[in-house]
Amino acid sequence: MANLTPFPELSYHDNQLHLDEVSLTKLAELYGTPLYVYSYSALVKAYNDFKDAFKTRDTLICYAVKANGNLSLLRELANLGAGFDIVSMGELQRVLQAGGDPQKIVFSGVGKSIEEINYALKTNIFCFNIESEQELYRINECALNLGKKASISFRVNPDVDPMTHPYISTGLKNSKFGVPFDTAIELYRKAHLLSHVQIKGIDCHIGSQITELEPFIEALERILELILKLNDHGIAISHLDLGGGLGITYKNETIISLNDYAQALLSRLNNFNGQLIFEPGRRIIGNSGLLLTRVEYLKQSPDHNFAIVDAAMNDLVRPSLYDAWHEVVEVKKPAIESNQFFDVVGPVCETGDILASNRSLEAQPKDLLAILSAGAYGSSMGSNYNARPRAPEVLVFQDQHYLISRRESHEELTQRELTDFFNLPPLSKII
Ligand code: LLP
Repeated sequence: MANLTPFPELSYHDNQLHLDEVSLTKLAELYGTPLYVYSYSALVKAYNDFKDAFKTRDTLICYAVKANGNLSLLRELANLGAGFDIVSMGELQRVLQAGGDPQKIVFSGVGKSIEEINYALKTNIFCFNIESEQELYRINECALNLGKKASISFRVNPDVDPMTHPYISTGLKNSKFGVPFDTAIELYRKAHLLSHVQIKGIDCHIGSQITELEPFIEALERILELILKLNDHGIAISHLDLGGGLGITYKNETIISLNDYAQALLSRLNNFNGQLIFEPGRRIIGNSGLLLTRVEYLKQSPDHNFAIVDAAMNDLVRPSLYDAWHEVVEVKKPAIESNQFFDVVGPVCETGDILASNRSLEAQPKDLLAILSAGAYGSSMGSNYNARPRAPEVLVFQDQHYLISRRESHEELTQRELTDFFNLPPLSKII
């Protein structure tokens, strides 16, 4: 039976799984499935735990919007005082729409376009995390044209192995992210000479779903080395952005406690008095959310039992893309642990449309299953593949539930394609 320990907001009452005090069966009846459900309490706790761990220092928590950019969630986080780490104009627009403070926004990403830079400059964001020399010159030029001065950091690549999945390792020497460690001083010196940028900070982000403390410490030590060298060159650094990356428990991983993380970092920061910035995504929202799905059919092949459910890789792509494990739990509590094992798969026409492999489950058609730890990189990585509408999202708090995004309609899905061309007779008829 699935281990619910990492999900304190989940529990069975009257043999029915509840998130906070809300029955998932009831939510499925009200909103349909597949359905994303988030716990407000879990979100607030995760944010506050992070904040509290660093309360002895001037710290800004810039939630990584890519993990889950739902407007209502962003609005709640903004109200808790969060800043935001964005990687596109779309994310910036979302944050602003949700009431986020531009002066708490850092802009990361390797491919910022001129349009995005101009928009961010006009918005007066807090800092650009620059990822290449060409980007430095582009930002300087955009700022010059707008009569502004851009606040900048370089995202430095400390060449540290985060010991996580290769697709989400970002701080290795040959990664496309950040500027190489050995060129960082040179770049800061070049930036120092430019008229329309103002050096503010230094930044690094080494990867995601990291469960070992060592890579964070190693990265910090390398960055601190750079700060000292920059001081020798007369370049002052007023903030240190250590990125995101803290892992969560999906299966049985032992994760880094926030106290250990804070203790390890703070104890090494004696010579740095500036502001600290973090960019957590997964750690804030990952275990605050689940994907609720209904079994459509059971099917057997010689070696496998399949539970075909109504959620699919377009709703939650992590298992298909990274072979990621998400715990699957029966919404109706089974009397005894099932001795039947299922691959939980979706209706999408891809063999890789697998949500979970080989799970002991009590499952019959129409039964509900909860796919856990789906708050981060779930909905935000969703797609419309197979013309499937995106699943709605609901936020629960105590015994209340609030719809925070509607299920997409067929009209919404096709609207963009109703162009002038589509209203003409088919080409084959006129040529
Ligand atoms: N800052 C930067 C610059 C990032 O690139 C990321 C994540 C974060 C912060 C937040 O990292 P977190 O605290 O969430 O680990 N889709 C993958 C994860 C990709 C992470 C990309 N960057 C997954 O589903 O595992």
